[in-house]
Amino acid sequence: MNTNVHVFSVSPFLTLTEKVTVEYLCQLFFGGESVKHGGFTCPGGSLANLTAMITARSILFPETKAKGIQDHKFRLFTSEHAHYSFHKAAMTAGMGIETVISVGVNSQGQMESEKLRQAFLDSKLRNETPFFVCATAGTTVYGSFDPLNEIADICEEFGLWLHVDASWGGGVIFSPKHLHKLTGIKRANSITFNPQKMLGVPLLCSFLLLRDKSVLAANSLDNASYLFHEENEYDNGSQTLWCSRLGDAFKFWFSLQWYGEVGYCRRVEHAFEMVTLFYENMLKNSNFEVLLKPACLQVCFYYRPSEDGERNTKMTHGIVQVLRNERKYFIDYAQGKRGDFFRIVIQNPLTTEVFIDEVIKEIDEAGKKLLHTL
Ligand SMILES: Cc1ncc(COP(=O)(O)O)c(C=O)c1O
Repeated sequence: MNTNVHVFSVSPFLTLTEKVTVEYLCQLFFGGESVKHGGFTCPGGSLANLTAMITARSILFPETKAKGIQDHKFRLFTSEHAHYSFHKAAMTAGMGIETVISVGVNSQGQMESEKLRQAFLDSKLRNETPFFVCATAGTTVYGSFDPLNEIADICEEFGLWLHVDASWGGGVIFSPKHLHKLTGIKRANSITFNPQKMLGVPLLCSFLLLRDKSVLAANSLDNASYLFHEENEYDNGSQTLWCSRLGDAFKFWFSLQWYGEVGYCRRVEHAFEMVTLFYENMLKNSNFEVLLKPACLQVCFYYRPSEDGERNTKMTHGIVQVLRNERKYFIDYAQGKRGDFFRIVIQNPLTTEVFIDEVIKEIDEAGKKLLHTL
């Protein structure tokens, strides 16, 4: 496993494993003619997102490859709930974080496509160069799925690159029950998918998938002929933004042989069942307020919230601290408009109904103890 998958001659087996795995995933996500699709593993979803953005820029504005951004005022669009890696990508690519335009979301945390259209038109009026849209399939905090077909329509109308960050929610592709959340994903130009997340494949295991593999040539340079001797689609290192590469695809390939699609389906659907149970049990207890009906595997909630955000934050942090001090549960939180709220992600296949009842009971008990102190 510890060999370098930059060129075929160094790692023939791992290179082929990656190729087969990428073809398999592309077929799942894009369908259609798999020979046209392509991609590779990246050291994490953030770098897959960065690579998608750089590839898009180099394809749509080929001169930027040699000359940089010049006079362009590039702009890219994500929902306000998208992962922060797009800001990092913009920073890394020399465009600056202010080039990321955050599009508003609806009450379900999904990007509002009409707001995207307006943001694009406003950007054009300012003589900017909008080029890239990232829709998220499973946002990091709330787990929302953006409306991919509506966003794809806008991208096609205006010639924008559509990237779908399915790092987290992409795992639902294995569940016939939840697959519909990805409707429209096959229209993306590129997709990030992290089997290391919902599918539990050991870290790091993250893929960038391309609908049209020919675009990857945009990432090649011709000054590394000592390594990349001739045009060879098996030398994946020539298409990535880095050189040495681990054989991360093998982990997914091996896991797929072991669990199979049926195993992944069971894993994902079990997790959704547990989340639904968690959510429904919380609805039965008036001490909890769930922020939105879970679309993915996160449950976001307050304990006895008031209109006072500071008090809500204190309550959340207080309960988290009590459970940590008692060495019971390590629960995390996120920032909301009414103060910090609990964010619980359920994806361990060993999670049981008993465990869920227990966690809710423990939070409730810790909360009751804290009530009089706030
Ligand atoms: C939606 C989404 N995209 C991208 C990432 C970044 O992935 P990685 O941590 O593999 O860089 C995350 C991580 O949580 C995520 O939730």
